[in-house]
Amino acid sequence: MLNFNFQNPTKINFGEGQIKVISKEIPLDAKVLLVYGGGSIKGNGVYKQVIDALSEHTFFEFSGIEPNPTYDTLMKAQEIIKAENIDYLLAVGGGSVVDGAKFIAAAALYEGDDAWDILAKQQAVTKALPIGAVLTLPATGSESNGNSVVTRDGNKLPFSSPLVRPLFAVLDPSVTLSLSDRQISNGVVDAFIHTIEQYLTYSVNGKVQDRFSEGLLQTLIEEGPKALAPATKENLEVRANIMWSATMALNGLIGAGVPQDWSTHMIGHELTGAFGIDHARTLSIVLPAVMKVRKEQKREKLLQYATRVWQITEGDDNARIDKAIRLTEEFFEAMQVPTRLSDVNLGSNDIDLLINRLEQHGMTALGEKSDITLAISREILTKAL
Ligand code: NZQ
Ligand code: ZN
Repeated sequence: MLNFNFQNPTKINFGEGQIKVISKEIPLDAKVLLVYGGGSIKGNGVYKQVIDALSEHTFFEFSGIEPNPTYDTLMKAQEIIKAENIDYLLAVGGGSVVDGAKFIAAAALYEGDDAWDILAKQQAVTKALPIGAVLTLPATGSESNGNSVVTRDGNKLPFSSPLVRPLFAVLDPSVTLSLSDRQISNGVVDAFIHTIEQYLTYSVNGKVQDRFSEGLLQTLIEEGPKALAPATKENLEVRANIMWSATMALNGLIGAGVPQDWSTHMIGHELTGAFGIDHARTLSIVLPAVMKVRKEQKREKLLQYATRVWQITEGDDNARIDKAIRLTEEFFEAMQVPTRLSDVNLGSNDIDLLINRLEQHGMTALGEKSDITLAISREILTKAL
C-alpha cells in the first residue's frame, strides 16, 4: 500500500426528511447565498424545504447554474456576493451546482487578477467561502470532496482544494425520485467509473481499498438497473444504496493509498467540452476502450475484477478478461448509456480535435503510470469508434 493522508471533514446528514437540519448546520448570523440550477428544485419540493429550513437566516439566491457549469455564469454570482457581503454558500442541486458553488467560493476570495487562473494555471486556492450542500443527484461525489470542474469556451478544466470541500451535505434519497431515467443512468455510471479509475490500475496489496471498491461496483451493478425498472424505480432503499455508493466512490476513501488512473475522465472531459455530451456518457464510451487498449498494463487487476466483481471463474486469463470487459459494456447498455463514439454520431474525423484539445490542456501523460501519451489516447479513441 502507498503512504497516504486522509481527512474527510464533510458531515453527512443522510436520509428522508434531513433537509431541515440545514437550519442548525449553518450559523444563524451567516449571510447565505442559496445557489441552484435550472429550477428542478422548484418542481420537486426541495426548494420549499430549503426555504422553510432557512426561515431564521438571512439569505439571497443565485440560480441558473447549468449542467457542466460555465465560468461566465459562475462569475455573475460575484456581484451579489460583494453587494450583500455573503459569507456562506448553500448549493442545492447536482454535481454541476455543487462544483459551481466551489468555484464561486474560491473566486470570491481570490487575490490574483483573474480567477480563471485557478483552473487554467492551477493557481492554489488559499481562501474560500464555506459551503454546505443539499445533493439532488447522486453521481459525482462533489458533496463531500474538494473537486470542481468548470467550462469556458469549450475548455472543461478541473481544480481541487480541501478549502472548497463542503462542511456538511444533506443526502435525502427521496429527492432523487424526480430524476429522469437519463440522469439516474448518468449518476450510476459516473459513480461506477469513479470507482474503476481508483481500482483498475496495478496492485499495491491495498486489500481494504480493493474490497471497498469491489463492494461499491457490485452494489451499483445490482441496484442501478432497479432504479430504471418500473417495478422498483420508486423504491427508496434502491435510491439510498445508489446515493451512498456515489458518495463513497469519490470522497477520498477508496483512493487513499492506491494508484489512480483518471484517463477515462480526462479524455471524457474533452468529449463534453467539444461536443456537449453528458459527462457520464463520455465515460461509458471511453472506459471499455481503455480496458481493451491497456489490457497488458492492467492485466492483474482486470483478472481480479473478473473474478471478484463478475464471478468469472472459467476460461484462461484472456478469456476471463474479455468476458469482464463484455459484461461491463452490457451493464452500461442495461443502464441505457452509449458505449461507442458511433452511438453519439461521432467518427474517426472527430478524433484529431479531441487529441488537439488533450494536448492544449496538458493531458499528455495520463494513467496510473503517466504513460498514456497522446498516441495512446488516439488508440483508445480509435478503439471506441
Ligand atoms: O439544473 P437543474 O434544474 O437542477 O436540473 C438538473 C440538470 O439539468 C437535473 N437534476 C438534478 N437533480 C434533479 C434534477 N432533475 C430532477 N430531479 C432532481 N432531483 O439534472 C441535470 C444534470 O445535473 P448535473 O448537476 O449537471 O449532473 P451531475 O450531478 O451528473 O454533475 C455533472 C457535473 O459534475 C462534474 C461533471 O464534469 C459535470 O460538470 N463532475 C464533478 C466531479 C467532482 N466534483 O468530483 C467529478 C465528476 O467526475 C465530474 O467530472
Ligand atoms: Zn465523473
